[in-house]
Amino acid sequence: MSEPNIILEAKGLSRHYQVSRGFFQGHATVKALNNVSFQLQAGKTLAVVGESGCGKSTLARQLTLIEEPTAGELNIAGVAIAKADAAALKALRPKVQMVFQNPFASLNPRKQVGAMLAEPLQLNTTLSASEREQRVREQRVREMLQIVGLRPEHYHRYPHMFSGGQRQRIAIARAMMLKPAVLVADEPTSALDVSIQAQILNLFMDLQDELGTAYVFVSHNLAVVEHIADDVMVMYFGSTVEYGAKETIFQQPLHPYTKALMSATPAIRQEDRRAKIKLTGELPSPLNPPTGCAFNTRCPHANERCRSEVPVLRPLANRMIACHHIETIPQ
Ligand SMILES: Nc1ncnc2c1ncn2[C@@H]1O[C@H](COP(=O)(O)OP(=O)(O)OP(=O)(O)O)[C@@H](O)[C@H]1O
Ligand SMILES: [Mg+2]
Repeated sequence: MSEPNIILEAKGLSRHYQVSRGFFQGHATVKALNNVSFQLQAGKTLAVVGESGCGKSTLARQLTLIEEPTAGELNIAGVAIAKADAAALKALRPKVQMVFQNPFASLNPRKQVGAMLAEPLQLNTTLSASEREQRVREQRVREMLQIVGLRPEHYHRYPHMFSGGQRQRIAIARAMMLKPAVLVADEPTSALDVSIQAQILNLFMDLQDELGTAYVFVSHNLAVVEHIADDVMVMYFGSTVEYGAKETIFQQPLHPYTKALMSATPAIRQEDRRAKIKLTGELPSPLNPPTGCAFNTRCPHANERCRSEVPVLRPLANRMIACHHIETIPQ
């Protein structure tokens, strides 16, 4: 590990899926995630942005150990996952938690909120529950309810008795019960009403201040990202196209795809939307990937080189960027 406070590090992370193309055509490989690298410091937020299908959830599943990457390395709290034995992995799992887009689907409808929040405490301790320990657990659950902005009487209620925003608060509380070092949140506000989105974003930020949790925050909404991120990674077709500090990326987006995303987001300040690139067409089919730069089919600057040679992610102007002729594009 390069720095002591790097809590999550991905090096060349890839995830490929074998899919059937139909009876006569055999199998094909979908390269959902390609060679993604980043470092996340303790207590900071990395936002991952990009259109639907660009690989955000696939990345989230690798980071939370739900799936095993096809290639690449993952370090969590200084432990290399690939080399960790079963005991080390078991100790590591509670350190990375996940919050999903749909809070209803991720909550057990038959469990009262109090019991649901106590569950992680029971699963991850070897203590047999004496009465005293049960009281301690209940106390911790009640504290967490308060921290996430729910009321004491909610303890005995069932998920269907809550609004969407409250349900997401419950899901966040559950993820936070074991004070994880990293929380991966996959579009945690996009199923919510706009007025509730801001409240939940603020809750995320307050919790980070209070508990020091690092976030990987997946969103297709740049206005949300601007609010919450320290670093921003822009993904296209499974790969990183631009990655750097939020201020750098928002003040001077350089990749044509990043620019296009920004000009398509009305809530971004006007001066940050000066780049007028219209995003036309659709993400290419993963079963029929374009040659060269994956963005070449939609990029207004694409030339012969872009259509034949894959651009390498390299450092430029305080960020990482994968574009062939970025120096020649008028900014
Ligand atoms: N288990 C799987 N098998 C085959 N292909 C998959 C699988 N999971 C994801 N993919 C493909 O990988 C690509 C990336 O999917 P992913 O769900 O990561 O995108 P996303 O960025 O999260 O999109 P969205 O914003 O819609 O949630 C898509 O082309 C998807 O069809
Ligand atoms: Mg997704």
